[in-house]
Amino acid sequence: MRVLSIVGARPQFIKAAPVSRALRDHHVEILVHTGQHYDHAMSDVFFEELGIPKPDVNLGVGSGPHGQQTAEMLAPLEKLLLEERPDCVIVYGDTNTTLAGALAASKLDIPVAHVEAGLRSFDRRMPEEINRVVSDHLSRLLLCPTPAAVNNLRAEGLVEGVELVGDVMLDTALYQTGMADEAQVLSSFDLTAGEYLLATVHRAGNTDSPERLTAIVDALTSLGRTVIWPVHPRTAKMLAHYGIEDRVVARGDVRSVTPVGYGALLALLRNAAGVLTDSGGMQKEAYFFSVPCVTLREETEWVETVETGWNVLAGADAAAIVAAAERLARPAKHPDLYGDGHAADRVVAAIESHFGKRS
Ligand code: UD1
Ligand code: UDP
Repeated sequence: MRVLSIVGARPQFIKAAPVSRALRDHHVEILVHTGQHYDHAMSDVFFEELGIPKPDVNLGVGSGPHGQQTAEMLAPLEKLLLEERPDCVIVYGDTNTTLAGALAASKLDIPVAHVEAGLRSFDRRMPEEINRVVSDHLSRLLLCPTPAAVNNLRAEGLVEGVELVGDVMLDTALYQTGMADEAQVLSSFDLTAGEYLLATVHRAGNTDSPERLTAIVDALTSLGRTVIWPVHPRTAKMLAHYGIEDRVVARGDVRSVTPVGYGALLALLRNAAGVLTDSGGMQKEAYFFSVPCVTLREETEWVETVETGWNVLAGADAAAIVAAAERLARPAKHPDLYGDGHAADRVVAAIESHFGKRS
């Protein structure tokens, strides 16, 4: 088969790495990068560290408002798909890259496989929720990481082509564990294992509200604990825009740093006393490595992490964040919620069984 995979944002490189590896054992992959993320620390570093093949095409779309960014992906994707005529297209997650890829391919009647299908926050103010719902309804193969995702799709009438495969992020996390020298990473940030918290913030709902971003900064700086915070470029821009970047460095023990590579991130996460984040990926990674998590949102798509007691939803309420960070607990039970680390093999097997016969 000839499979065209479309990626563009940091979490998609991490999700695509194991699928690309499994796919290339038996098939031809054409890898397309939309260029949604482009800083070295948001893009190239993952290709280098995770051994992802260099993209065959980079559309170089860059940043912009939602409609513009998505539209700038659509036209060149359509042209490329018409030239390449792949047997299927793979899209990942819930970004504007996912939406553009699913839309361009489905309009050309090229079957779409959506990896990480079925996730829902039930909050349509979230751009990712729109991207997920539309991409799921355009896809012919819906590859779900969790039973909850399968149920969400069923509730929307989507049952055909739905497969529970597990979470490809677990594949990557397990594959990469041990690749970085964790002691060296900790010492480079002057951190002691178990004696610091790891924070990240990037959701539009948090960064684009001065009240919410200020409350999160206030919470992090008032914990009285060392916090390492790799700052997403969107968040760096908004901290500067609101004039509150000084609050991060002037008070408390918060160390804001530029985004780190995947090996360093895993090292920081695995040795942290807890994680405070609004990242979807990091809520799961905290769970993978039994690190308690405080989620800086009112809801989560990864409901299992909350149900098992490993994740607490604190929103952007400073008092609630501080209270949750002071009560971090490691529940006795830690069931395998996200599969066995071989989700990518199941993704490829599902693609073969659904689309393999097409020429
Ligand atoms: C995007 C996804 C989000 C995902 C996140 C992962 C959408 C709608 N959002 O959000 O679902 O969780 O990626 O990180 O697709 N920027 C840079 N350099 C870069 C990339 C971005 O400086 O390499 C800055 C630009 O100012 C840009 C802003 O970050 O305007 C936002 O980037 P964008 O890709 O639009 O959205 P993210 O917030 O990264
Ligand atoms: N990540 C990273 N370096 C960082 C911050 C995050 O490698 O400085 C990784 C993290 O381990 C996870 C992924 O990026 O695998 C999550 O991406 P992000 O939070 O940007 O997006 P989301 O998962 O919320 O869509």
